[in-house]
Amino acid sequence: MRRKKLGRSDLELSVVGLGTWAMGGSDWAYSWGSQDDNDSISAIHQAMDLGINWIDTAPVYGMGHAEEVVGKAISTMKEKPLVFSKCGLVWNDKRKVTPLLKRESVKNEINASLKRLQIEVIDLYQIHWPRPDEDIEEAWEVIAGAVKAGKIRYAGVCNFNVDQLIRVESIHPAASLQPPYSMIERDIEEEILPYCATFEKGVIVYSPMQKGLLTGKYTKENIKQLSPDDHRKYDIQFKEPILNTNLWFIEGLKPIAEKNKITLAQLAIAWTLNRREVTAAIVGARNASQIGDTARAGDWVLSDVDIALIDSLIQERQERLIH
Ligand SMILES: NC(=O)c1ccc[n+]([C@@H]2O[C@H](COP(=O)([O-])OP(=O)(O)OC[C@H]3O[C@@H](n4cnc5c(N)ncnc54)[C@H](OP(=O)(O)O)[C@@H]3O)[C@@H](O)[C@H]2O)c1
Repeated sequence: MRRKKLGRSDLELSVVGLGTWAMGGSDWAYSWGSQDDNDSISAIHQAMDLGINWIDTAPVYGMGHAEEVVGKAISTMKEKPLVFSKCGLVWNDKRKVTPLLKRESVKNEINASLKRLQIEVIDLYQIHWPRPDEDIEEAWEVIAGAVKAGKIRYAGVCNFNVDQLIRVESIHPAASLQPPYSMIERDIEEEILPYCATFEKGVIVYSPMQKGLLTGKYTKENIKQLSPDDHRKYDIQFKEPILNTNLWFIEGLKPIAEKNKITLAQLAIAWTLNRREVTAAIVGARNASQIGDTARAGDWVLSDVDIALIDSLIQERQERLIH
């Protein structure tokens, strides 16, 4: 698996990393439906066996559950992967999630994550969402303090715009940004990627398969069968009128994947890695077989011809959505 340096940090990341959102399991607002912890642990072990050297998680994924599963999976490993977590989304007794970036809350979140993950230091600690916007500096100061105290190696952010990146920079340098990026979610290309390239910020993109949609396994029929607590049921990309155009788009990708003897999942991930500004892609998996497929995207590079073919499909998708 290829590796790339994360911005100006000394972290060398496999270009594919493992995401753990779905491993949080059911019974919370942004769940992916139920999930077997043994499958999650097998996926984590398989990822490491295939050359992936980092895991992305967050306290809110299953309200502590995904972090606990990661902690359990890596506790027995002699050589542990790099572990990335986040702060800023907290929950109450009724499992209601609220954005919170206040000083005491962030301090508590860092300590709680270290405990659940069963580690002494978190390799990359990120603000999950810039909400409330007026509190991002307050949270960032706490994170910078935790870097000095040795609880965190590097500080990063997720879902920030350029103005927000600039605001935190004067307090402490951000090692990286974690934004969404896929063939059908390209907002970062205009402003954010150029900023990250100029200021040498690592870029770790999330949802490269658009939450599984770009793997080609979803149809109008089986989306209806998704569990009622799978939040994708309510995601606009999985719903009409956009779904119809997305399914047309995926049909267009199939000959490109077939010609290269790769899966659609690998094609979708490799496409995000083609941008030189992108350090690595976080790939969600629910079992060993899924990551067994997707990890291979880290060893495969798209040709210019295929990039051009995909670009024209993306363009036509946009036009279909407008008309
Ligand atoms: N910072 C943030 O705000 C933020 C936001 C979103 C995500 N993230 C991070 O990024 C990670 C990745 O994003 P994501 O999980 O949203 O989306 P993704 O990686 O685009 O999709 C992952 C999902 O696709 C399906 N899948 C995976 N491999 C497959 C394969 N080989 N064949 C068929 N289906 C496959 C699985 O779900 P099914 O089997 O159920 O379809 C899996 O959970 C997350 O886990 C999380 O760590 C961060």
